[in-house]
Amino acid sequence: MISSLDIRANRESLTETLRTHGYVALRGHDIDKTAIRNFQQLAENFFALPLSTKAQYFDPNNGALAGYLRIPGGDDHYSSDVCEFWNVLCPTQLSDKSYLRPQNPWPSEINHFKETSLALYSQADALVHELLGHVSATLTSDANYLPGLIDDSWTALRMMHYPPASAEVAAEKLRGQEHTDITMLTLFLGGTDEGLEILDADGHWQPANLAEGEVLIACGEMLERLSNGLFRAVPHRVVQSPESVKKQRFSFTLFVAPRPEVSLAPLAQAIEQNGPDAKYEDISSGQYLAQRIGLGVVELVAGLRAALDQEIAHSETHLAANTAN
Ligand SMILES: [Fe+2]
Repeated sequence: MISSLDIRANRESLTETLRTHGYVALRGHDIDKTAIRNFQQLAENFFALPLSTKAQYFDPNNGALAGYLRIPGGDDHYSSDVCEFWNVLCPTQLSDKSYLRPQNPWPSEINHFKETSLALYSQADALVHELLGHVSATLTSDANYLPGLIDDSWTALRMMHYPPASAEVAAEKLRGQEHTDITMLTLFLGGTDEGLEILDADGHWQPANLAEGEVLIACGEMLERLSNGLFRAVPHRVVQSPESVKKQRFSFTLFVAPRPEVSLAPLAQAIEQNGPDAKYEDISSGQYLAQRIGLGVVELVAGLRAALDQEIAHSETHLAANTAN
């Protein structure tokens, strides 16, 4: 069983639970079930569009931070079979550097995509600001420090779609390999089937089956660095059963990251609490992301876009051959 808390009654113990476990399921928050349901409806409608229509929204020039992204099947970090995403990038435009971030595209084929997405984004963002405020109060003298890092940032609300797996991958592979998230926090808002598992502090995989209305918070690597290891990035994975792979799967997640120029050097009070020395080097959030991805982001995204073009060309050839027969 995963730890579960009602946020209204446990504001004080919340950070302690996060610190001990690296994750917690929350209820009693203000994220509206209807907002999640409506977002799910968008996902179902959008991902059902033809590949060539979806591909219009994959812009390699925006680093795939906003809009459509498709990852082909293979032994990659994310999934053993094809998966596709839509990212809604943090919509605030506060600083004079806002223009450096890509603008969110909005698919004209789906009604109310923008309003529905931004409604859920703002509710999830409000919860994350509150959570980071509690965490910040334990690490600095300023409860607004961590929440202030995510305004105008690369935080993204992501809808993920795993189509039914092809028979060859069904038996032996995970849908999402074990990994920790690069972000500060990850907020799992729900999905259409089970399979998410979290590695607990004792080294056991725990199924993260959320009760109705619960959302799951997990600590990521950027928070681990800022807190000098007080909050640990929690490993997780997505498992599949022979039945579950035959169905498509959706999941909805807010990835919470600071602005790219923010230093991830451990905070002074965190070093005092978990020192005596800094356990992590000083690196900016943007540099760290590039380092973790390994490849340059530009090359990575250009490769994914080329794979998508190939897939479209392949399906068109197939279609032409079938029509000719
Ligand atoms: Fe993850």
